[in-house]
Formats: sequence, structure tokens, C-alpha cells
Amino acid sequence: MLKIFKNLDDLSRAAAQEFLATANEAISARGQFLVALNGGGTPKRLFELLASTPDKMDWSRAHVFWGDERLVPVSESQNNYAMAKQTLLDRVPIPAENIHRVNTDLDPAEAVADYIRTLERFATSPLRWPRFDLVLLGMGDDGHTASLFPGSPVEESVPVVAVTADYQGRPANRITLTPPVFNSAHKILFLVSGASKADALRHVLNGDSEVQFPAVRIHPTTGTVQWFVDEAAAGQL
Ligand code: 6PG
Repeated sequence: MLKIFKNLDDLSRAAAQEFLATANEAISARGQFLVALNGGGTPKRLFELLASTPDKMDWSRAHVFWGDERLVPVSESQNNYAMAKQTLLDRVPIPAENIHRVNTDLDPAEAVADYIRTLERFATSPLRWPRFDLVLLGMGDDGHTASLFPGSPVEESVPVVAVTADYQGRPANRITLTPPVFNSAHKILFLVSGASKADALRHVLNGDSEVQFPAVRIHPTTGTVQWFVDEAAAGQL
């Protein structure tokens, strides 16, 4: 389902409502809310909005993971965990042990192995990883999502991989969850803002090459996917 909003602020407000409704439903149904956050600039406003209404969900029941992480120290704002910590996690009553960050102090192979173990601790049988209640994803100008970049192998055999990618001068060494993990989620919500994304968004929603436009690899097996985009990003649809 595609919803088009006037600007990033309107998009973020709707995303905050969707986030809270999904969290409350999951907590009622299953006693916990398993969410994978995205990085980049787009979710910052959403995170701030969630932080401004901390009593709208039971944060003690939330477990927070990341769809991808840049392998830079947490002291750097380019670290996805650090961004979420500053804008959201430090400002809501979530227990520290419910925050499951990628350990960026490790080398890439170790960080992958460590995160696979983290996912296994929350695995929803018969999966070897949690069936997330909500996965937030962004999309790059080139159609990448999480850290699944154009031309990268369509990795289906492991839940987490290390990658290197040059994108807009951002940190190149990353780890990312793989499509089977994303696609097993109950709900996936893409947040896409800005005219620079318009061309890629058209290709992705057309279902063009999943090698060239990795966001095409995201299609939940039994769950749902929603696209929240602003008018600028929707400019070529
Ligand atoms: C990351 C992301 C990445 C991001 C897109 C869009 O860690 O870089 O998770 O996939 O969502 O690059 O980034 P913007 O929101 O900054 O455009």
C-alpha cells in the first residue's frame, strides 16, 4: 500500500501513529513488540515525535534491533544506534537490556556472528531470527535499502552479512539483515522523502531489477508492506 504525504513532517506524523498502533497491537497479541529500526536522515523526525509522547505505548515491552548498521564507533553520529539513542531511546522508558545494537567495536565478521547470536536469542520458531512486528526501512537515491546495495548478491542463506558500499560519503563498512529476515516480518514500513529518490522509487514500485534496485527484494511472505512517501519522492509516479 502506498500513501503520499505533503512533506516529511506529515509523513513522520502518520508513521508515528502507525508505529504506536503496531506496537500496541503486538503487545496485546503477543506481550512484546519486536522492531527493527532504520538509519539515515529520514526517520529522525519520526523518532523525535515518538520521544515526545513516551506514554503512548509500553516501552518496557519493546525490543529494538537495527536493520543495518554502519561500522563506526557509537561516539559518531553516523552510527545508526547513536542516532536512535539521541533522538528516541534516551528519551523513552525502555530498559537498556531491550536495546539490541550491533556491536561496532568488533571487526565486520565478528559483528556479523555476534548479531546472528542476538537474533537467535529472539528467534520465532521455526525461524532462526525474530519475526519482527515492525521493520522500518528507508531507500537511497540508488534504490538501496538497509545496506542491500545495487549489484550486491541476493543473499538468502544467512540472516546477517557484512558489506562495503560507497554512498554519499557515508561510512562504507556496514552490516545488514538479509531479505529473508525482512520478508518474514509482520509489517514493513518504508519511509521515503525527497525528489532525489523519485527515479528509484518509480523503478522499485514498478518491480524492476532487484539486483539494480535492491528495495525490490523486500516483499513480505505473509506480512504487509506499506510505503509512506512524500510528494517530492512521488514526483515520477
Ligand atoms: C543506513 C540506512 C539506509 C538508509 C538510506 C536512506 O544505515 O544508511 O538504513 O538504508 O535508510 O540510505 O537514507 P536517508 O534517509 O538519509 O535518505
